[in-house]
Amino acid sequence: MSKSPDEKESLPAAKDPFYWGVATSAFQIEGHLENDMTVWEKQGGFRQNGKDPQVGQAADHWHRWRQDFDLLSKLSVNAYRFSIEWARLEPQPGCFDDKALAVYRDMLIDLQKRGITPFLTLHHFTHPVWFHQQCPWHKKESVIAYLTYIEKVIKMAAPFVDWYLTFNEPQVWALGAYADAKFPPGEKDFKKMMTAIYHMLNAHSAAYRLIKKIKPEAMIGIAKNFIVFRALNKSNPLDKALTRSIRYFYNHMVLNAFTNNQLEIRFPPLLNFNHAIELDNRIDFWGINYYYRMHVYFRLGLGMPFGLKFIDRSGEGLSSLGWENHSRGLYKTTKQLAKTGKPILITENGIACENDDERIAFLKNHYRILKKIKKKGIDLRGYFYWTFIDNYEWLEGKAARFGLIRVDYEKQLERSEKPSAAFYRDHISRQIDSSDISQTNYK
Ligand code: BGC
Repeated sequence: MSKSPDEKESLPAAKDPFYWGVATSAFQIEGHLENDMTVWEKQGGFRQNGKDPQVGQAADHWHRWRQDFDLLSKLSVNAYRFSIEWARLEPQPGCFDDKALAVYRDMLIDLQKRGITPFLTLHHFTHPVWFHQQCPWHKKESVIAYLTYIEKVIKMAAPFVDWYLTFNEPQVWALGAYADAKFPPGEKDFKKMMTAIYHMLNAHSAAYRLIKKIKPEAMIGIAKNFIVFRALNKSNPLDKALTRSIRYFYNHMVLNAFTNNQLEIRFPPLLNFNHAIELDNRIDFWGINYYYRMHVYFRLGLGMPFGLKFIDRSGEGLSSLGWENHSRGLYKTTKQLAKTGKPILITENGIACENDDERIAFLKNHYRILKKIKKKGIDLRGYFYWTFIDNYEWLEGKAARFGLIRVDYEKQLERSEKPSAAFYRDHISRQIDSSDISQTNYK
């Protein structure tokens, strides 16, 4: 197929820049959608959290993406991570909406003109309405459904996109969907949860091969959430033992599956799963989504034998969601992950707050850590702040303000830059042409 004049002729320069970007997900900003989450919301699924979030038109990005991309350019980012909404493209199984696909293509063309490198997430928590009835992730048919969808996307995106994320936080999604019943299909069944993770990882592996067939030079990764877990009471052996098990499950189990070809967890009496899985370390980079530290403690009673708590032990404060800001945890996490030998991108890192000074302080603290990571010689390729514009935050709705750009829900969704947006711009413009961020001073 010959290339349109819009499409680029050459591949990225041999030496990639350090990517400074912002990240979003389709469902959280686009609006005007019907998918598994909107149905779940209508059925009161999110209400169990004591709140009643309504996604509605979200930030109406689906209609305002061009203006939003102007704001992206104004931020001076050289990269943008965003996702494709599966439900838009395949509202009925096997029936694709080419018009919707064309809109995503227009977005990619526009980013290319702006010199902003796209990082494309193929799955970010949401599904078409039919998905959970026909082929939920705990059934192996899910893998085929996912591949059918992504093949369509990759064929469209390949001329424009070098960096792909097959999944955003598969484990976090599976916990919400199959352990906590917070996301559809809303179950509480650990065995199904592990089976779902198993199929998602298989889907990643098959997607890896499919994408490489279409575009051999593509870089393919997963955005994985990491949490720093600490025993609440270090002299309590039960707190310590539980911390070790939880840390293994959350941070290490999936990484080990990539190198050992075995998805294994023993966490009696809650979890016991051990299955061979052909991953063969098929991943080109790891994305770190990092937000906070949590303290673990043993507790007796019904339900889980442990509790998780946020405490401001680091002195960096708590976010408006009560999360502990703990920038050193990002260093620890990155250092651990570097042992995989794969390049690393920080695909999400951010804070929800009303007072924007807190976001600036958060950014400063995390920049110091980035500098430390680079000084250590770790192969860190980029940093994406979460998130670009205020969005719909799953269980919290629109109350959680993570954006660098404010969205005024009372005033026709008007956008305005927060001071942290200017701070981010100043910081990254000083460095954008240099791959060496280890030399910058942070006051
Ligand atoms: C998710 C985002 C979410 C963010 C803040 C990440 O786990 O990928 O969708 O908005 O955390 O909670």
